[in-house]
Amino acid sequence: MNFQQNVSLKALNTLGLEVQAALFYEWRDPVVLSDLLNAAAACNKVHWLGGGSNTVFLRDFDGLVIHIATRGIQHRFTGEHTVLVTAAAGEVWHDFVQHTLANGWYGLENLSLIPGTVGAAPIQNIGAYGVEVRERIHRVFGVDTVSRQPFTLDQEACRFGYRDSIFKSEAARHYVITAVEFALDTEFTPRTAYGDLAQHAAQLAHGETISARHVADAVIAIRRSKLPDPHQLGNVGSFFHNPILPASLAKVLLQQYPDAPHYPQIDGRIKLAAGWLIEQAGLKGARAGGMAVHEQQALVLVNRGDATAQDVLDLTAHIQKTVRNRFGIMLQPEPLFID
Ligand code: EPU
Repeated sequence: MNFQQNVSLKALNTLGLEVQAALFYEWRDPVVLSDLLNAAAACNKVHWLGGGSNTVFLRDFDGLVIHIATRGIQHRFTGEHTVLVTAAAGEVWHDFVQHTLANGWYGLENLSLIPGTVGAAPIQNIGAYGVEVRERIHRVFGVDTVSRQPFTLDQEACRFGYRDSIFKSEAARHYVITAVEFALDTEFTPRTAYGDLAQHAAQLAHGETISARHVADAVIAIRRSKLPDPHQLGNVGSFFHNPILPASLAKVLLQQYPDAPHYPQIDGRIKLAAGWLIEQAGLKGARAGGMAVHEQQALVLVNRGDATAQDVLDLTAHIQKTVRNRFGIMLQPEPLFID
């Protein structure tokens, strides 16, 4: 295995932090996996990197970074209206979603334009505009990097929750996802109840029946209006989880702030909008060094060009403290911090 030395990760983390990997490997060929696992076992530290869109490197990485760049999409029809589509972990998520739509395979359209890769999607159960990816995940394939044994987990075994899955747990710390199988429909059923998505899609349809393409284009337009393009302004999407509170606590807060956006969960708890809490705490535009709270969406923190990991930590702490003092809620960061 030929590992590169002292490679910049600036273009491989969407926050755009200037960090280096002591050793680096671009993994494109699935066939070399067992050699790669053997070679990686000899390294003191290994980090498997997808699209770098949910990753904050706190310093130079003093070990081996493996960039998962495998490609390939296969499909098979399993019923009159169902197709199982398997994509390699390194496929770019948005391009994969557009590929499914172009083939008339539906169910992922609301998840258009989410940064990152297919292999990263199950880890935090990516979700947007009323749809979570877990609804479409049939099986997840991967390898345990310690035992070097492959695994296959069905949807239930993945233990999906809001921005959560088994892949975030201690038990699965050594798992690497190599491919994901999605169960998609060949007939389209729109899911447009979230916010003003239905209105946007209807506008694009110009009186015709709303298609999956209209929904995808509406999602793309809404995202572009609120969420900065990481190529222009480094960011990792939502920086904090939306907090989920017990109903009793949420009730007290909602009595005081009846306008606060809130979403009842099936288990009776209430999800609040972290972006709203941050904005109400007066933090839109707040800065720490090169990092700032985005003006169009307070849940997104942006790198103004020269931010350091310390700036990220400082702004995170400032937001957490200010929101806690105002609302008594401790916001939890969404991205993975790599030390
Ligand atoms: N809001 C504000 N001010 C803000 C931001 C939001 O008042 O600065 C309010 C909005 O007006 C709205 C509510 O908060 O009433 C929710 O805002 P939005 O629809 O923008 O969604 P979000 O809760 O901030 C979540 C996901 C996003 C996803 C959107 C759309 C999380 C952590 N984030 O954001 O996912 O795109 O919903 O479904 O759940 C991501 O995870 O990286 C991500 C971008």
